Amino acid sequence: MIKTTIAEVHKYVGEEVKIGVWLANKRSSGKIAFLQLRDGTGFIQGVVVKNEVSEEIFQAAKTVTQESSLYVTGVVQKDERSPFGYELNVNGIELIQLATDYPITPKEHGTEFLMDNRHLWLRSKRQHAVMKIRNEIIRSTYEFFNNNGFVKIDPPILTGSAPEGTTELFHTKYFEEDAFLSQSGQLHLEAAAMALGKVFSFGPTFRAEKSKTRRHLIEFWMMEPEMAFTNHEESLVVQEEYAAYIVQSVLKNCQLELNTLGRDLSKLEQIKTPFPRITYDDAVKLLHEKGFDDIQWGDDFGAPHETAIAESYDKPVFIVNYPTGLKPFYMQPHPDRDDVVLCADMIAPEGYGEIIGGSERIHDYDLLKKRLEEHNLPLETYNWYLELRKYGSVPHSGFGLGLERTVAWISGVEHVRETIPFPRLLNRLYP
Ligand code: 4AD
Ligand code: MG
Repeated sequence: MIKTTIAEVHKYVGEEVKIGVWLANKRSSGKIAFLQLRDGTGFIQGVVVKNEVSEEIFQAAKTVTQESSLYVTGVVQKDERSPFGYELNVNGIELIQLATDYPITPKEHGTEFLMDNRHLWLRSKRQHAVMKIRNEIIRSTYEFFNNNGFVKIDPPILTGSAPEGTTELFHTKYFEEDAFLSQSGQLHLEAAAMALGKVFSFGPTFRAEKSKTRRHLIEFWMMEPEMAFTNHEESLVVQEEYAAYIVQSVLKNCQLELNTLGRDLSKLEQIKTPFPRITYDDAVKLLHEKGFDDIQWGDDFGAPHETAIAESYDKPVFIVNYPTGLKPFYMQPHPDRDDVVLCADMIAPEGYGEIIGGSERIHDYDLLKKRLEEHNLPLETYNWYLELRKYGSVPHSGFGLGLERTVAWISGVEHVRETIPFPRLLNRLYP
């Protein structure tokens, strides 16, 4: 007997196999039972025909409950009608554990209930599809950066510095000192870029943001590349190539999952380079044309503004050169204007919001020192960062892509809470 997984059954058409599974759902009549089975690698229908199996096995099929664990044996059949393409003609059932009163029944449940049961909700077909897409984005990220000569670097999680402003920090004691959970690995990545040229990180970041929106998590994962000898324009090219690469990888490797989620594939197929660019100045004008009279030059864009701008394009759009006052201390000023910086936010189509924030970094020692002082940041804490501008300082740029917003966009999932296994939200630390 071949012991295998659902993902591998295509190799065994016409053969008898054994698979460890959970029962996702079930339909049965007097003569036949249809078992919806899942094993983590996929979902398959098991068919149990009364007069082809012993009475004992047919009874087991009829009485097995949702989320019970079992070993099934059966013959793999090609099945053109099912989206998966195969089904299992079950001839044996060996119960491992009978589950009783599984809380998530096939009926509709409210969001809070599902979130309270996130440890179980992850087993659903939809959540399974989203996690597989998340995994493909992570896999293709490593592939993209490794193929392009980047070295993976792991910045610290416990830090003394605050790249993105001091208002949203998670504070903790570090023995006698104060420490913060990392908001971004950027500053340490800049040091690493001066050692290794092109580096990237992928890790958890933390923002004590009191935002309760479909785009905000308290703990989220960021991909952060940092590149020495690279100006802002060159960085934009890496950003669009990277974003297009992950979309095309998901399209290629997650067809089944995208179909499970009902994603409109034509929207993803058009995500090819180059991406459009609009300056912050023109974005303000565009918003005025669209009737957003509330926005003045110098204001930050909110979700409705980003969505309105994105609606003009069928690809992600870069909004470049934001006002200096809206952005962190480290951004390089525009060469011809001192009121804007060399930065860009990449806004996803279809209302998914900002997925990338990036910029060229200040590489002049005096200017960086001045900016740190203007932002009231303690020089002792940032001394190491300033020193990078003392010993062979070079123009450099980098960016950060928010994984969960990217998963939401590519999967077509409305809220980021479904894009991370165990979301940390304003009012949620459980499960
Ligand atoms: O724009 P942000 O704040 O940029 C930085 O942190 C830079 N230091 C990155 C860099 O240049 N190395 O964050 C980057 C991205 C955003 O575009 C967004 O996708 C995501 O991180 N992000 C969040 N995602 C979910 N929940 C939140 N609260 C997020 N805050 C930012
Ligand atoms: Mg940003």
